[in-house]
Amino acid sequence: MTQHQRLLIIDFGSQVTQLIARRLRELSVYCEIHPYQKVDDAFLAEFAPKAIILSGGPDSVTRDGSPRPPESVFALGVPILGICYGQQVMMQELGGLVETGHGTAEFGRAYVTPTAERLPLLDGWFGGVDGREQVWMSHGDHVSRLAPGFAVFGTSPGAPFAITADPSRNFFAVQFHPEVHHTPNGAKLYENFVKLAGFTGDWTMASYKDEAIARIREQVGDKQVICGLSGGVDSSVAAVLIHEAIGDQLTCVFVDHGLLRLNEAEEVVTMFRDNYNIPLIHADEADLFLGELDGVSDPETKRKIIGRLFIDVFQKYASQIDGAEFLAQGTLYPDVIESVSFSGGPSVTIKSHHNVGGLPEKMGLKLVEQLRELFKDEVRALGRELGLPDKFIGRHPFPGPGLAIRCPGEITREKLEILRRADAVYIDQIRRHGLYDEIWQAFAAILPMRTVGVMGDGRTYDFALGLRAVTSVDGMTADYYPFTHEFLGETSTRIINEVRGINRVFYDCTSKPPGTIELE
Ligand code: XMP
Repeated sequence: MTQHQRLLIIDFGSQVTQLIARRLRELSVYCEIHPYQKVDDAFLAEFAPKAIILSGGPDSVTRDGSPRPPESVFALGVPILGICYGQQVMMQELGGLVETGHGTAEFGRAYVTPTAERLPLLDGWFGGVDGREQVWMSHGDHVSRLAPGFAVFGTSPGAPFAITADPSRNFFAVQFHPEVHHTPNGAKLYENFVKLAGFTGDWTMASYKDEAIARIREQVGDKQVICGLSGGVDSSVAAVLIHEAIGDQLTCVFVDHGLLRLNEAEEVVTMFRDNYNIPLIHADEADLFLGELDGVSDPETKRKIIGRLFIDVFQKYASQIDGAEFLAQGTLYPDVIESVSFSGGPSVTIKSHHNVGGLPEKMGLKLVEQLRELFKDEVRALGRELGLPDKFIGRHPFPGPGLAIRCPGEITREKLEILRRADAVYIDQIRRHGLYDEIWQAFAAILPMRTVGVMGDGRTYDFALGLRAVTSVDGMTADYYPFTHEFLGETSTRIINEVRGINRVFYDCTSKPPGTIELE
């Protein structure tokens, strides 16, 4: 476990629990999210949190059997902040009362007014319009009697106990969500909370890098490590970090499945060979992948074929490396957070994500996963710390199955070639207009239809192209990017003029949900 001061977030299933962790990490505070069922006395003793946050959640504390933290949480003597459901659970457990309804539900924007007393948690607050603060509420239940020792420090029309605290124990409980964007000054509350809990902001990328390097050396010893490189940010940062730690004991395998973007393979291979001198196997397996995908149009079948072949190919090359005992993966923190699920069952598979799952057991490999404590933007910060070029670090995410899922229907070499060139023009347009860093992910997709057009005096019967661009925090939800009409018009004209085989361009204005980011 990390050497840093630690904050524990106990998750009761709120949709926005991850945002609490983001806010804290931005304050250079190390925190982890754990589902309430996992948090028992043994866990608390080992984790040794310096402070605790109780998240929101969809349940009602008035219901028998609703989620609770262990009682011992309140006896640890560390500062606690309860948010929404977390506030209600605190009140209930500490001797107050929570009730449902009576017209006091609040959803959306609300304004909190201070009471007379001053509370260090609120330093820098209530400076805005009329001395009130805008907050985001989302609650059906409300606290109707405070627990002993607590007092009110802020009220809103629907929540007479919007901000409550027992300052003598450093227990704070708020009805609203300070972590969301619609509580504009919410970060200040977290800043005050961690300050009064004694956090010194010791979670920095420079120190993390040094520790991670030491841990990799200790884990790996003098053995060999292999790393699957996709050219994406995560696996690239993992590779460079491990290379710093163990040098030539690392070999990277870059599997080129023939579904990469224009010049992608050359760029990745050059960047690794020239800048880092990392032993790299460039596995050109386009014929194998495209051969097996020939005639396949079902999205899930495509994904499964690619996933299976990736493992076969990786295994083939990895077995040529003498003494490989470890496999490095760019697994990130959002992939390992076990969120509380109230659905009671496994969630529906929307898409089979492709990774190297299954490989470690099959080959008897142990995993090196040094990024598993990090969020995506922290991986980028680590990449900068390691000296990776900005242009590389800022790249939009690119999925493992590559262009296969941007080519709905059957995949052909002809379509892939058209798509590569059209995508390059689109991305060039975005860069020229200075929009690349504002957009979370942008790409073109070749649609499974031909349409009639007219160019010069002649008829055309060519493919239609779909353009996608989204903003997002983590890819779980997304909004389509609001390009101007001028931008879209100019881009469409450029693509049709510069790319033979496309005579029509559509812009996808679907958010996620209901759409997904990729087309398949
Ligand atoms: P969707 O399409 O599910 O995508 O909204 C969310 C994010 O995940 C990426 N994605 C993948 N990444 N392997 C990956 O490594 C995959 O199989 C895969 N499928 C989707 C997608 O590009 C987006 O960033």
